[in-house]
Amino acid sequence: MPIRVGLIGTGSIAREKHLPGMVELGGLVETVAVVDVNEERARSAAADYAVPHSYTDYQEMLEVDHPDLVLIATPPSTHRETVTAALDAGAWVACEKPPTLSLADYDAMSAHEKEGGPYVSFLFQHRWGSAARRLRELVAHGTLGRPLVATCNTLWYRDPTYFAVPWRAKWATEGGGPTMGHGIHQVDMLLSILGNWSDVSAEMATLGRDTETEDVSLAIARLENGAMVSVTNSLLSPRQTSDVRIDFEKATVEVHHLYGYDNTNWTWTPAPDIPEDEAASWLPRSNETSDTHVHQFRIILDAMERGERPPVSGADGRRGLEFAAGMYKSALTGRRVARSELTPDDPFYTTMTGGDASTATDRIHAGTILAPSQGPERHA
Ligand SMILES: NC(=O)c1ccc[n+]([C@@H]2O[C@H](COP(=O)([O-])OP(=O)(O)OC[C@H]3O[C@@H](n4cnc5c(N)ncnc54)[C@H](O)[C@@H]3O)[C@@H](O)[C@H]2O)c1
Repeated sequence: MPIRVGLIGTGSIAREKHLPGMVELGGLVETVAVVDVNEERARSAAADYAVPHSYTDYQEMLEVDHPDLVLIATPPSTHRETVTAALDAGAWVACEKPPTLSLADYDAMSAHEKEGGPYVSFLFQHRWGSAARRLRELVAHGTLGRPLVATCNTLWYRDPTYFAVPWRAKWATEGGGPTMGHGIHQVDMLLSILGNWSDVSAEMATLGRDTETEDVSLAIARLENGAMVSVTNSLLSPRQTSDVRIDFEKATVEVHHLYGYDNTNWTWTPAPDIPEDEAASWLPRSNETSDTHVHQFRIILDAMERGERPPVSGADGRRGLEFAAGMYKSALTGRRVARSELTPDDPFYTTMTGGDASTATDRIHAGTILAPSQGPERHA
């Protein structure tokens, strides 16, 4: 029997990835319903993909159609409520990034998962190209030696018209700028390979667009394994590129792409003393791209069959969001932030602004930080 799928949100990404992805999965799935608050958008998606039911209210869809799997492709501020409703209706969920607007929302939503399912997994497709999968495997086995230094740069260009979509670049609806909405893809991929961060120091500014949030952010982070990482997120970079480079004791491994990669975007450079056959054994054995959601959809379907938590769920789905919270806290308080301090009593657990959104905007726009007399001391 195919898995019965309901899609909530039929905007850009649903049209580009979710609906075509369901077609690509063929007989494994059957899309039974689509939902959008914009009735015309829902109807036309249903007509184009021969989906029998369309709705403007996701609660009604959940009650009438009882899908096994719900895909969520709505703006970030709706993720907590839509994911929670789908889990409560007994459906597994594949939800777009960023998972939620805050760690508090993430944890509240996760509390609606049940042992053995349903679970929610967040769509971070860049984890799933064959080269990233192979690298994750090698790192897990320690094959490349210790990771020492990494850079993670998401340098994209979004012209002013991009921000005409009302939910973009606002604290209340997107939760942040490129830290939350764009660079989070590569940060998620990097942390899925190298593991948790331990502390971060960040700076942010709004330099080129009329946005509430930052349009540029930079971070220096230390990982639990001791590696040092620098991260740059920008929406102002005319020559766009997405780059991750990791220097291990035995090799430099790097990817240079834009919105997706295959093996040809990756370079594996062994240290001088590594024999050729050893370096050759590291390379991925297949060549799957990362610019599709279908790899992760298949992984979620497998997890459903086994009744197991899928990847990019629970603690594994929270890492990129937690790193973003650390970056906002550091940029807005002017001090280094330990991962361990983002506990429920911390203001940056509850919101990325740590409280008042207009104060956060003012600080980021001014490119300033709290003076030491007004807030926590900057660490040396
Ligand atoms: N994984 C990726 O590479 C990628 C790329 C782009 C966007 N995204 C993410 O996908 C999500 C959607 O982005 P988009 O660019 O498609 O946005 P969009 O504005 O084009 O589409 C969102 C749709 O959701 C509908 N909607 C809003 N609230 C709703 C609700 N409560 N119930 C039902 N429908 C509702 C809107 O009417 C709209 O049609 C965002 O979280 C975004 O960050 C992910």
